[in-house]
Amino acid sequence: MTALLDIHLTDADADVALRADALAGLTAQPKNLPPKWFYDARGSALFEQITQLPEYFPTRTERALLEHAADAIAITSGADTIVELGSGSSAKTRLLLDAFGRAESLRRYVPQDVSEPALREAMSALQADYPGLELHGVVGDFTAHLDRLPPEGHRMVAFLGGTIGNLLPPERAEFLRALRAALRPGEQFLLGTGLVVDPSLLVPAYDDAAGVTAEFNRNVLHVLNRELDADFDVDAFHHKAVWAAENEWIEMRLVAQRAMTVTLAGLDLTVEFAAGEEMCTEVSAKFRLPGIGAMLGEAGFSVVGSWTDPDERMALTLATAV
Ligand code: SAH
Ligand code: TRP
Repeated sequence: MTALLDIHLTDADADVALRADALAGLTAQPKNLPPKWFYDARGSALFEQITQLPEYFPTRTERALLEHAADAIAITSGADTIVELGSGSSAKTRLLLDAFGRAESLRRYVPQDVSEPALREAMSALQADYPGLELHGVVGDFTAHLDRLPPEGHRMVAFLGGTIGNLLPPERAEFLRALRAALRPGEQFLLGTGLVVDPSLLVPAYDDAAGVTAEFNRNVLHVLNRELDADFDVDAFHHKAVWAAENEWIEMRLVAQRAMTVTLAGLDLTVEFAAGEEMCTEVSAKFRLPGIGAMLGEAGFSVVGSWTDPDERMALTLATAV
């Protein structure tokens, strides 16, 4: 079957957005950069490596949860279209595609990701392995383009991997509002969240011994060097992951190892880093079960199913748009 690909984020759009984000974030105090810029082709490949690391338990925990729950999700949902936000390699999603196939309801899969190379690679693998499935990829930003999701079918929108935790609380509320507005009553949302667990388990998941997460974090500086003609000395920034107990999130930072003046020629901008200065590049919020239900309820969803692993590290929640 032929595959469609909608592009809501051209290179020119991405360039405008990156400029605005870099200018705002690098002139703010403290400095910060939004996480979506990690994911060029190299960043997406590094994230796939992270999912294989012994310390990074979320992917394998969520995969085990899906193995256990996918058939019940398919039967409860009855959707014929699975839309997935931030789909990346779509690797775990195959468990859902298989279960919805067994339930004989599946017609269409709509993966959406900001990373065009990752999306194209995932789609060509899926096309080979699921010849009867309609594939409709969307290159887009789930913080901006939810109103442009393909409307066809009875949809279940999956948002896995704990990625919702990468949104700051106001962005998260706006995301849920926009998602609910994009759905018709009776359509579903399948949310995968990381739960609050002991920091001694959580921090190494975001700061592995092999240094892959450090490379991933620093990748955003390579992106700025390439796209904005900047001169970050990438190796002069160290990776740091901290558990911010008051917010119940992991914070990823890049720490300047010495004082530096960085020029971003493409932005006509010069920024100073003090020795030891820390720049936040991502948060990964963790949730508690009652909070997940409340957050979905406030956004106009009603929870119809919920699954957790025996150690309560990850949750899958199925909710219906009311
Ligand atoms: N769903 C996969 C990947 C999670 S990593 C899993 O569970 O393993 C986060 C994914 O979201 C990456 O593929 C990244 O490219 C994508 N992403 C990050 N920010 C995004 C945004 N604003 N809009 C769309 N996709 C985004
Ligand atoms: N959505 C993933 C998470 O929050 C993204 C992620 C995993 C990540 N490891 C990372 C982002 C390290 C930045 C750095 O778990």
